Amino acid sequence: MKDETAINERVEQLFKEFMFDEQATEWVRDRTKTVERMLSRYQCAIYEIETKFNVLNTEFSLDHDRNPINSIHSRLKTFDSIVEKIQRRGLPQTFESIEENLHDIAGVRVVCTFPEDIYHLRNALLKQDDIYLIEEKDYVKNPKPNGYRSLHLIVKVPVFLAAEKHLMKVEIQMRTIAMNFWASLEHQIRYKKDIEFTEEMANELKECAELSATLDKRMDTLRKATIERTAPSI
Ligand code: GTP
Ligand code: MG
Repeated sequence: MKDETAINERVEQLFKEFMFDEQATEWVRDRTKTVERMLSRYQCAIYEIETKFNVLNTEFSLDHDRNPINSIHSRLKTFDSIVEKIQRRGLPQTFESIEENLHDIAGVRVVCTFPEDIYHLRNALLKQDDIYLIEEKDYVKNPKPNGYRSLHLIVKVPVFLAAEKHLMKVEIQMRTIAMNFWASLEHQIRYKKDIEFTEEMANELKECAELSATLDKRMDTLRKATIERTAPSI
């Protein structure tokens, strides 16, 4: 107990010395600024990608009288979880390594109306000459064994600052409302702490994923049927 008090006093003393050491505070300020600059570039990349999808949505809705995008959700990873991920993977703890190895610091989730909207938007985005495709995983055509469906793209997009251009990586997840419904609930159920996940539960979840895929197909059939019944305009 006595030792613990002594340690606490020493830590407090060191902290005070550190706080009033000009060189140390300058070092902390510098590092903080570097982190802020890096994160702000990723935030700007999110703005760029969101704008591109909003433009495509606007154009499509003028041509087809409906929105292919139901909603867009974006998130920027916190620096704490960036550090946690880089440490967990045993990667070098440098800014270069973060930018090189982590693909999901900037994340944009595009919730589409119908499955074919996902591919229409994907093709339209990838055709743009300032978008560079780094990786694509099609969990819509090839769902994960647990039933997860979504189209994942890792792209690079330029962010123009006053004096320089940075190519920033963004993870884009594209899914329908039904796929998003399943993924959101599955995430909450599966990651509930202190609960053992049984095989039965996994099977039930997979069945729900198949139900949601059926729902997507039936709604799509309905949409196509309404198009066929639309009288041609004169
Ligand atoms: P990280 O998960 O980012 O380390 O990389 P990864 O290479 O495994 O990427 P993957 O494309 O498989 O998944 C990336 C993201 O997709 C995850 O962070 C989730 O947001 C989402 N995702 C992937 N699989 C599942 C799943 O089974 N359920 C849910 N709800 N989301 C998933
Ligand atoms: Mg991830």
